[in-house]
Amino acid sequence: MLQPTSGSGTASDPRLAICPDRHCYRRRPVRNLADSSDIDVNEVLPTDLATLDPVLRAHRFSLVRGLERYVDDVGPSYTRQAYERAARDPATMVLAARSDQRVLAATTISPAAWESGLLGTRVGHLGDVVGVAEPGRREPAVRRLLEAAGARWAEAGGGMLVARIDVDDADAVVAAQRAGFEVLETTIAYLNDNDAEPGTTHAPRGFEVRCHPHGSAGEIPATALDVLMRSVDETDRIGHLYSDRALDPDRVQDLYRAWVTNTFRGDHGDVVYTAWRDDQVLGVLSWTEDGDLDELAGIKVLRSGFGAVAPEGHGALGDLYAAVCRDRPLGSRLVESTTQAGNEAVFTVWGRFASMRPASANYVLHGWF
Ligand SMILES: CC(C)(COP(=O)(O)OP(=O)(O)OC[C@H]1O[C@@H](n2cnc3c(N)ncnc32)[C@H](O)[C@@H]1OP(=O)(O)O)[C@@H](O)C(=O)NCCC(=O)NCCS
Repeated sequence: MLQPTSGSGTASDPRLAICPDRHCYRRRPVRNLADSSDIDVNEVLPTDLATLDPVLRAHRFSLVRGLERYVDDVGPSYTRQAYERAARDPATMVLAARSDQRVLAATTISPAAWESGLLGTRVGHLGDVVGVAEPGRREPAVRRLLEAAGARWAEAGGGMLVARIDVDDADAVVAAQRAGFEVLETTIAYLNDNDAEPGTTHAPRGFEVRCHPHGSAGEIPATALDVLMRSVDETDRIGHLYSDRALDPDRVQDLYRAWVTNTFRGDHGDVVYTAWRDDQVLGVLSWTEDGDLDELAGIKVLRSGFGAVAPEGHGALGDLYAAVCRDRPLGSRLVESTTQAGNEAVFTVWGRFASMRPASANYVLHGWF
């Protein structure tokens, strides 16, 4: 019991309440907002998905947030659709953190078979991490959620979980770090608006640029790829997979090699651009389509794929973007490109095209459980 004139409390302290009978202040059991002891994390059944709607509707940091510069409110509906797909997929788990039945935070966990096979360890991806907007509630709720996600991943065999969190979502980033995740990379996305005034300061470097839609990159003869493939093997090792000391760098390189091989087999990427000199491909960029996003946004958007330029193709990146920014590939309105925050050469090139604008930035985090 605290007296009005003694102890640390004052009449304006919200933790204190006047006890009318006894004319004294008594400590009221007000929950510390950072406390998560009232939060339970459970799997969400497809039939209960609607219980997530309030947090999904209010989600400000979706994985397509950058698009909201062009299309209003597309992020929450994109996230909602991803959760619906996750709920239907027997391999994916939807998890929600609740207090008194109210959903405070949610995410999805899906196993990544391709990465797991190549990296030789179980890899899973967290989907959009959503949480209530209330200050003081968001961080503990997301922390409990991600601790539980890690525990479930460990129970199922353990391994690495990968999360992508918007750099502005400070609560979720802090929560993820407290739950055992480590930030390993920052990626920045730009969007090229094909309807914007074109304008460029890029001086052409004389590469021949070719466009390969819908699998036709598979027609490029293997001998034309020798220099590029060699440079992919020898290139500087950057990115979240190389930064993770728990992963074998040789296996990470195998994964990148497989990604490039799939791109040139026509198996990955809906449109591929190549820069040529002397019958050799010296630079490549690829993009993928996202039909669900197009439908929600009401415009066609290409999502970022793979990009590389061999040292022998120095300067080709600008020629590739000059073609992409002019061509409206696959009839797109917006073309997304993503790279690491420290990749200055790429930002120098993007900055030369007036129609390319910064859109969003994400931390890539790994957690081992
Ligand atoms: C990053 C990469 C695509 C650049 O390809 P490139 O066409 O040879 O680019 P350049 O080296 O000519 O760099 C482009 C411009 O940025 C400038 N630049 C390079 N490093 C820079 C830096 N640290 N700060 C500022 N400007 C820089 C270059 O001088 C050049 O300007 P210039 O045209 O006036 O000479 C290539 O090095 C690569 O494939 N790297 C590994 C994979 C990768 O990062 N892929 C991401 C592709 S999106």
